[in-house]
Amino acid sequence: MSGQDVKATVREKYGQAARRVTSGERTSCCSSTCCGGSEDPITSNLYTEVETASLPHQAVLASLGCGNPTALAELHQGEVVLDLGSGGGIDVLLSARRVGPTGKAYGLDMTEEMLALARENQRKAGLGNVEFLKGEIEAIPLPEGSVDVIISNCVINLSTDKQKVLAEAFRVLKPGGRFAVSDVVIRGEVPSEVRRSMELWVGCVAGALTEEQYLERLGEAGFEQIGIEPTRVYEFEDAKAFLSGAGLNTEVLAREVSGRVMGAFVRARKPV
Ligand SMILES: C[S@@+](CC[C@H](N)C(=O)[O-])C[C@H]1O[C@@H](n2cnc3c(N)ncnc32)[C@H](O)[C@@H]1O
Repeated sequence: MSGQDVKATVREKYGQAARRVTSGERTSCCSSTCCGGSEDPITSNLYTEVETASLPHQAVLASLGCGNPTALAELHQGEVVLDLGSGGGIDVLLSARRVGPTGKAYGLDMTEEMLALARENQRKAGLGNVEFLKGEIEAIPLPEGSVDVIISNCVINLSTDKQKVLAEAFRVLKPGGRFAVSDVVIRGEVPSEVRRSMELWVGCVAGALTEEQYLERLGEAGFEQIGIEPTRVYEFEDAKAFLSGAGLNTEVLAREVSGRVMGAFVRARKPV
């Protein structure tokens, strides 16, 4: 499949997820393969009750991340934050409160239905310092040097041109700007059947970079002070949950994948 085909499939899948939330359903998984009624090991329980209590219900229902980047990122009053692949807007709304009325939180997403949902969530939250932009993370529609902090939650793994995404993140950051991203990251190797599965690509696993690749590509983009910290390591039962439904031998592959897929916080800085 070409990069454009993958993008169209990703857009279709997340458009459906947004429509489910708009019709009142919980969209419980990043992976379309893991909606089996049990808790999704990747997307569940990422936020504290204090955080979710302050948000519109549909922003919480639409949460499809694999971490909580705003809890781990340093955010200050007056700063400009950009969320790559903002979905239903949960991290944009949380950031907007942290940067306050003198700051600004942008969300960027390519899926029309997600943008509509996010804008409705912004309206319900009553936040004026938020703007949702339509566009692709491989071509960020903001000027060079205009952002203090880039956040993202389980999106960069979905791109077929990650080097372009990182180059764009670097371009729009101000000198000294921070990259503070939650993403799925692979430790070691995962079987080629997993890498080839479109279901698992859309489900945030097959396209994930290894730790080494992430470090190398951030360095190539020009970043410094790069670090990757695991926030959740998916063991056998978790792997079974996200592999099920992909038409693969779940039991065998889950053993091979166990402990090698993780939610991680990836941080870096643009030199001053
Ligand atoms: C796994 S969801 C995560 C959404 C949100 N960050 C969250 O934590 O709930 C992925 C989101 O990224 C968007 N997305 C995926 N690839 C993208 C791309 N290349 N450019 C812009 N948005 C993209 C999808 O439309 C979807 O809303």
